[in-house]
Amino acid sequence: MSESIAPHGGKLVTRMLEGKEREEVSKKAGELKKIILSDREISDLELLAVGGFSPLEGFMCKDDYHSTLGTMTLKNGLPWTIPVTLSVTREEAGRLKEGSDAALVDGKNTVLAVLHIDEIHGHDKEKEALEVYGTKEDAHPGVKKVYEMGDMLLGGKVSVIRRNEYPDFKPHRLDPAETRKVFKEKGWKRIVGFQTRNPIHRAHEYIQKCALETVDGLMIHPLVGETKGDDIPAAIRMRCYEALMENYYPKDRVVLAVFPAAMRYAGPREAVFHAIIRKNYGCTHFIVGRDHAGVGSYYGTFDAHYIFDEFDPAAIGITPLFFDYTFYCKRCAGMASYKSCPHDSSNHVTLSGTKVRDMLRAGVTPPQEFSRPEVAGILIEAMRGQK
Ligand code: ADX
Repeated sequence: MSESIAPHGGKLVTRMLEGKEREEVSKKAGELKKIILSDREISDLELLAVGGFSPLEGFMCKDDYHSTLGTMTLKNGLPWTIPVTLSVTREEAGRLKEGSDAALVDGKNTVLAVLHIDEIHGHDKEKEALEVYGTKEDAHPGVKKVYEMGDMLLGGKVSVIRRNEYPDFKPHRLDPAETRKVFKEKGWKRIVGFQTRNPIHRAHEYIQKCALETVDGLMIHPLVGETKGDDIPAAIRMRCYEALMENYYPKDRVVLAVFPAAMRYAGPREAVFHAIIRKNYGCTHFIVGRDHAGVGSYYGTFDAHYIFDEFDPAAIGITPLFFDYTFYCKRCAGMASYKSCPHDSSNHVTLSGTKVRDMLRAGVTPPQEFSRPEVAGILIEAMRGQK
């Protein structure tokens, strides 16, 4: 029997402490200088804790940071496209020392982890904006976040004491070691992962099911960390997924699990990042459709496909499955894409995100060809609650 896919770098690197060690570090943490983490940093800490970011052991030191920006690799040459950083202000940095430990706390002052500070280094915000996001404009939500962060970065290993409980998503909280175990128990060898930050529509369902036709199992992995203000909240999106799982998916072939990351909106670079992390969760294949992780018109529709050509496929390890723009075609009487449909676009049912939001807000159900009625019902209800 073939083994499961190797994590990035060879082995799953987790940073969650257990038992006595956890007790001892917790005790010590109370006396350390405190650093308050942002929502994104809390999400990154969680992924470091559970091995989603293998082989990283902590927030990036200078070499890994600059090599990620410049060459899309860690300093050891492994592909890595998005910086994983912890920032502080210059004043805060002035109070900290390389070689010392600091307590990482959330907004309520609860200690989450201890950071072993190896390096305090400069945050090259403009370079990061340009290299990672392809623009210096702060109208880009990812770039705006970078500019809002502190001017200095703290690099070093983390030892994690406490994790986000995700009470809303309990049954769907599966760590990489757990998803790997589930895949093994099910006897799946080829597993396709699906990243999403939006409520599920028919195009999503279509590409997931097309992919599933060729592999053993599908892991739907909605991102539940921080997203931009006008994206639909994760709890609502998860209810949509549950409704679809109940009504339209073969339960023995699909796993629904939450992905605790924050969105960067870095388009192509984030597609590679998303793929590598899903490899750590045990997926062998990863879906990349149109404008993956994009925002506005910052990236070309298929830039997130082309970027994979810049890497040795063996170094990426997980196989990307690329999908063209998909839609319902009235003449085909089914879902199709520009690749498979010969009819002109007047036959295609496509709706922009803004248009769909306007419809839902007005209590209007989008056409069945665009969205399953169960999903539209949940979204209309949720929007009513927001008024
Ligand atoms: S993303 O930011 O997570 O990429 P979204 O949840 O909308 O946003 O997309 C999830 C995945 O489905 C991505 O791989 C995206 O490229 C793909 N996708 C979304 N809509 C379509 C579509 N109409 N045609 C092809 N792929 C699509």
